[in-house]
Amino acid sequence: MTRLRKLTVVGSKLGASYRGVRVVFCSMIFSVIGRMTSGILGVALFAAAGISAFAQDDAAFRYNRLLGRGINLGNALDAPREGAWGVTLKADYFRLIRKAGFNSVRIPIRWSTHASTAAPYDIETGFFQRVDWAIGQALSRNLAAVINIHHYVEMNQDPVQNLPRLVELWKQIALRYRNQPKSLMFELLNEPHDQLDDERWQEVFPTLLKAIRDSNPDRIILIGPAYLNTVDRLDKIQLPPQDRRIIGTFHYYKPLQFTHQGAFWLNDSAPWRGTRWVGTPQERKELRNDFERAATWSKQNHRPLYLGEFGAYREANMEDRALWTRAVAREAEKWGFSWSYWEFCSEFGAYDAAARQWRQPLLNALLDKE
Ligand code: BGC
Repeated sequence: MTRLRKLTVVGSKLGASYRGVRVVFCSMIFSVIGRMTSGILGVALFAAAGISAFAQDDAAFRYNRLLGRGINLGNALDAPREGAWGVTLKADYFRLIRKAGFNSVRIPIRWSTHASTAAPYDIETGFFQRVDWAIGQALSRNLAAVINIHHYVEMNQDPVQNLPRLVELWKQIALRYRNQPKSLMFELLNEPHDQLDDERWQEVFPTLLKAIRDSNPDRIILIGPAYLNTVDRLDKIQLPPQDRRIIGTFHYYKPLQFTHQGAFWLNDSAPWRGTRWVGTPQERKELRNDFERAATWSKQNHRPLYLGEFGAYREANMEDRALWTRAVAREAEKWGFSWSYWEFCSEFGAYDAAARQWRQPLLNALLDKE
């Protein structure tokens, strides 16, 4: 039943029309100003400016470096109920991730099935406690953590009706975690899509930002574009120029026929089975072009970028998956983007929970080992 539910949810999310353009990348460019702030000239400029606008600017870049190389703890707290999609978080997972050499985790969370549907939309205490535990696991092991609002299906279908609830969810989350270290970061909403198109998302996200800023003026907040956070829409999003504690985010699953071959939640994905990715000059060029565009956005807007999801589904050939994963991770790093692989131990899993071991080709690809 839960499987079916996922099928419906994610299937609707991945309308072929936008998955076709679905791509994500991020880049963090060290700007001249960023470098200057660490030098004598920077100090002088600081003094002259009287306020720490440049330092603020620098903070987002600094925290993005902290995110570094990460992994998504997917299909756990983002399932309708934890465990429904086969993954229940364990303390050991955080230990393994840290020990392998990752710097951060992204913890996707579906709050909407754990909150009242009537105002004031209270989040279940037990669920909050579970999230407290997950955040504690990450931070106490020196893993930076991104939490988000994931799979708020109704918000994408009817943003007008659901916005007040989403705002109240963020107010509660932000208030509860306001005293957490700054290595905990908030991402506004996973992959806006459907009715939440560029224009609507542009209207909506400042309201969410404000709901968080009231209690967390300095927290790093991640924001990505509509159309499933595709890199192709990064330039559609206008971030508030005065708020410098924002990291841009995007997702990358191109070519979709390769990364999602046989994915059961995509209606048309069965014929894609057998699609290869072998790193031809043309394949690499497409990847480079996409990331270069993201880097241009990053540079022009002076915002760091986080590649919050990328990965290839288990049905693809393992050799190709490893090659693609390595290529994407290195391309992200080339531009200074932090990244988070989708995902730890489920259908894209870098870790095989049943065998209790890493899928070595994927781990090596991620961490740039031979
Ligand atoms: C979704 C997952 C899905 C993945 C790849 C994520 O954003 O939350 O359910 O498996 O994208 O399509």
